[in-house]
Amino acid sequence: MSVGSERLPVRNPDPQGTSAIGIPPATARIAGYRPRLRISECGTVASVGDGIAWVTGLPSAAMDDVLAFQDGSWAVVFALTQKRIGAVLLHQTDELTAGTAARLAGRTLDIPVGEALLGRVIDPIGNPLDGGTAFESHSRRPLDNPSPPIVARDFVQQPLYTGTRIVDTLVPIGKGQRQLIIGDEGTGRSSLAMDAVLNQHGRGVRCVYVMIGQKRSAVVGTIDLLRKHDALAYTTVVVGEAGALAGLKYLAPFAGCTVAESWMADGHDTLVVYDDLSTHAQTYRELSLLLRRPPGREAYPGDIFYLHARLLERATVLNAANGGGSMTALPIVETRLGEIEAYIPTNLISITDGQIYLDPDLFASGFKPAIDVTRSVSRIGGKAQHPRIKDEAGRMKLDYLQFLELEIFTRFGARLESAMEARIRRGRLLREILRQERLQPLPPEFQLAWMTAYNEGLLDTVPPADIQSRLQELDAAIRNGSPALEAPRPEWLAWLRATLPQTGT
Ligand SMILES: Nc1ncnc2c1ncn2[C@@H]1O[C@H](COP(=O)(O)OP(=O)(O)O)[C@@H](O)[C@H]1O
Ligand SMILES: [Mg+2]
Repeated sequence: MSVGSERLPVRNPDPQGTSAIGIPPATARIAGYRPRLRISECGTVASVGDGIAWVTGLPSAAMDDVLAFQDGSWAVVFALTQKRIGAVLLHQTDELTAGTAARLAGRTLDIPVGEALLGRVIDPIGNPLDGGTAFESHSRRPLDNPSPPIVARDFVQQPLYTGTRIVDTLVPIGKGQRQLIIGDEGTGRSSLAMDAVLNQHGRGVRCVYVMIGQKRSAVVGTIDLLRKHDALAYTTVVVGEAGALAGLKYLAPFAGCTVAESWMADGHDTLVVYDDLSTHAQTYRELSLLLRRPPGREAYPGDIFYLHARLLERATVLNAANGGGSMTALPIVETRLGEIEAYIPTNLISITDGQIYLDPDLFASGFKPAIDVTRSVSRIGGKAQHPRIKDEAGRMKLDYLQFLELEIFTRFGARLESAMEARIRRGRLLREILRQERLQPLPPEFQLAWMTAYNEGLLDTVPPADIQSRLQELDAAIRNGSPALEAPRPEWLAWLRATLPQTGT
């Protein structure tokens, strides 16, 4: 405890005269000043290390309170015991040691939000990392917000196009959906999410890309890519890089969510990528173990499910009365050796509305994006899919799944009827079509066009080796002008026959 004198309540600009609002002159106030006791808690750092500090002497501290240290460091309260407080450091100077004084800052965590965040790279407590101006005068929003109540929500009914053939046709995503991207490291998870962000160009969807515990080279690469594809203008990048304090990595997804949430509250459509929540869970485990919280399964703290559920429940679509904004979330999670039954992946599978599974064997065999259609699902996106796309995708999917089964059968060297052989040939063609280089997002009209052409057999005579260049020509033709998505099938067929004359039937 310390004893201090009361601070003067208001500074008077003119020490001689009474101010316009009736404050007496400073001299009179000084004469009338009576010192009295002011009691405030003053804590002391007991120990510091590994991004946390143990503090004693702040009996009224509560969870999530911000602590300010005398040397300029600050932290947030993360664990309370009878004798001391465990705090997670969010800013640490070299002077912070045992014995440094600490006080309660009288606030909880918040970050700047709003228009000014567009095109910026920030850390999870709102400091710019791009050398740009700080956000001092802007509105702020608490990092931990309750998710919108049920009455404020609407159904997912608008499509969110990722520009990826397989996703937009077979695992479609709707605005306000939470779709997990799951797979081993190096199977193209970040690339898929990045393509989805790049595809929002000109579609009025604001994006947040959250990078958790990634190397600086990866961070720089991501920002570069966004800039190169004119995507930074509608995107905010939130970075808690590998070398940052564990507390910052832990806060990163909440910061990204808060930025998108404020845009959603203003009626905008938003897309947030959390890259990735496995690293986030590990950071949370590390902090929890350091702060002596009881470990649970795989040594993760018992509330890890609650933590991620709370984060992902904030993604939703608001109804018209609440502005009609939306937040679509693409959390990424890592598996080891394709094992999706591990603790964190199963948690996230049960929290989200579906998953896109990237398979290391498919990736190794050169099928990219390596999405395993049989293990990927979108539980609500189908309702948001355009009816024409949905119709064509239904037929195409049936063909594809039958082909995948047939192909296994042929591995045993079974002799096939010619009808079966034709099916397999068509299936192989389809697999060629579904390959897609990264950074080449495609418009929904293109998805409808190729599926219609495929379903109608207009591509059957194209040799598999030529199919990609043929599709590129189709894409160019679409961008030059094509029927609208709503156009009836015959109109599309006529257009396709004219555009793909070499293969016309
Ligand atoms: N569709 C694709 N076509 C070609 N290469 C791809 C594709 N998707 C990803 N890659 C490549 O695969 C590698 C791993 O991708 P990345 O997105 O970093 O994987 P992850 O995030 O799962 O670790 C990168 O070199 C990337 O360029
Ligand atoms: Mg990655």
